[in-house]
Amino acid sequence: MSLPAEFIQRLRQIIPPEQWEAVWQALHTPKTHVGLRLNPLQLPETGVPRFFSWCRKHDLNLTPLTGLKGGFCAPITQKSLLSHSEWAQNGQIYLQNPGSQWIGQLLSVEPGMEVLDLAAAPGSKTTQLAAQMANHGYLAAVEPIKSRYFRLKDNLERMGVTHCRTFLADGRSIGRKVPSRFDRVLLDAPCSSEGRIHAQDPASYAHWSVRKIKEQARKQKGLILSAWQALKPGGVLVYATCAFAPEENELIIARLLIKHPEAQLLPIELPFPHWQPGLSAWNGKALPESLTHTRRILPNDLFDGFFVAKIQKPA
Ligand SMILES: C[S@@+](CC[C@H](N)C(=O)[O-])C[C@H]1O[C@@H](n2cnc3c(N)ncnc32)[C@H](O)[C@@H]1O
Repeated sequence: MSLPAEFIQRLRQIIPPEQWEAVWQALHTPKTHVGLRLNPLQLPETGVPRFFSWCRKHDLNLTPLTGLKGGFCAPITQKSLLSHSEWAQNGQIYLQNPGSQWIGQLLSVEPGMEVLDLAAAPGSKTTQLAAQMANHGYLAAVEPIKSRYFRLKDNLERMGVTHCRTFLADGRSIGRKVPSRFDRVLLDAPCSSEGRIHAQDPASYAHWSVRKIKEQARKQKGLILSAWQALKPGGVLVYATCAFAPEENELIIARLLIKHPEAQLLPIELPFPHWQPGLSAWNGKALPESLTHTRRILPNDLFDGFFVAKIQKPA
């Protein structure tokens, strides 16, 4: 099997020519590294030296990830050692792609805030947000799929999260129930998962289709309006997907801007070169210029592909 021709053809329209070769390589070469983060809720600073000495004992080369609090990467050959270690089992470390860690960090949460994670399972970012909040404030996590909801609850428990309430619910129903409630909302939306597609993993693209993209876009439109409604004036929404498709990304934000022209896209700084600004046109149609503040994180030997937008509701 090879990557779907239509996927490649669409991707060529999205990725700038000067970044195409690197993306093509990333789609065809296995990852060389795996990302992880330390969890201060279960591994306080005093315990970190013991973790590093365990790594040295196992010849495990950890490299800090620039700009990511508590983020590291390790050679992929050591992924299994890490994921089966007592550190992972006890929630002291969490294996998480750096692109995903960036999305959790871009929400800029602080202890004491009221935070909503509207599409939360399995909880990689919920547990990251909880750690940034040091278990202070209020964190609400929503997931409608039962099996995923229970996985989320298990992860929250293992990672030592104590200030999070979970809801088995459709995220589209939340905004009208708790309008203007939250300082921060994360919508890490269900998507076509194109950012995880890899040529060597046919399962990653077996269900890819433009129809699926359109289906996900329909759901994302409802979710983002709910997320916006739940946000306090002055609050910040981070919208993210692990899809490349503009229908799931720029067009979702553009529609929010039509319904809520007061929404302000905030600039996003990333300290690495493999990203591109959001598109200002798609399929011959111009998009609002402010969409160039959004970012498509491009895949490489460590990162999966993501899209992220940071949007403020004026006070
Ligand atoms: C991209 S995943 C979230 C990953 C998660 N934020 C993390 O970092 O671990 C999207 C999640 O949205 C859930 N979902 C699907 N439909 C939803 C809906 N209508 N409302 C809320 N969540 C939904 C999916 O089941 C899935 O768990």
